[in-house]
Amino acid sequence: MTLSVDETWQTLVRASVDRRHPWRVVGFCTASEQGPAARSVILRKVLPAQRQLVFFTDSRSEKMQHIARCEQVALLFWNPQHNLQLRATGLAAAEQDPARIESYWQSIPDHARRDYGSTDAPGVVLADPGQGGYDLAVARRHFVVLNVVVDLIDSLKLARDEHMRQRFEWSASTQVWQQARLVP
Ligand SMILES: Cc1cc2nc3c(=O)[nH]c(=O)nc-3n(C[C@H](O)[C@H](O)[C@H](O)COP(=O)(O)O)c2cc1C
Repeated sequence: MTLSVDETWQTLVRASVDRRHPWRVVGFCTASEQGPAARSVILRKVLPAQRQLVFFTDSRSEKMQHIARCEQVALLFWNPQHNLQLRATGLAAAEQDPARIESYWQSIPDHARRDYGSTDAPGVVLADPGQGGYDLAVARRHFVVLNVVVDLIDSLKLARDEHMRQRFEWSASTQVWQQARLVP
């Protein structure tokens, strides 16, 4: 069984609220000056009507420098229980509404807020063992809500008898997802 585009979005919503869902950890790819760059991030919120996936990160991280250069990103999801791969592309942008950022910040427990509060920027070489630390004021300042508006989804279901691949492409002119079956 493959998923329709609506079912795909509903599954993404589930993944964002279910800690054990395999699609909660997403391969997030950006374009750096040296070429593609990938890392795992957690899917925090999904807004199907806006075609939007929400992630949290640190404004000092390299991915934010890549996005400043090129807002196009690629996302990769894999569910080994259902043999279902999802690839998505879209445009990433940091949330600008202070009230919305604050509301996401309030949803994060104290221990997890530390993730954005390293006193040195993520990726900085630690020169000595005593270097490094955390500060909650730093964390709040560097906390970024990163929205990705998806325009293309490629879904691949592996099955013993027949693999099934579908493409869902957002049509800006008709404001609907256009579906096509593809050779896997
Ligand atoms: C399971 C897992 C979940 C992660 N979740 C996030 C996340 O939600 N946000 C984030 O910025 N980094 C997250 N990271 C760390 C990133 O993979 C990465 O190391 C960090 O963001 C720096 O990446 P960059 O230098 O390419 O920006 C996670 C790592 C793992 C292994």
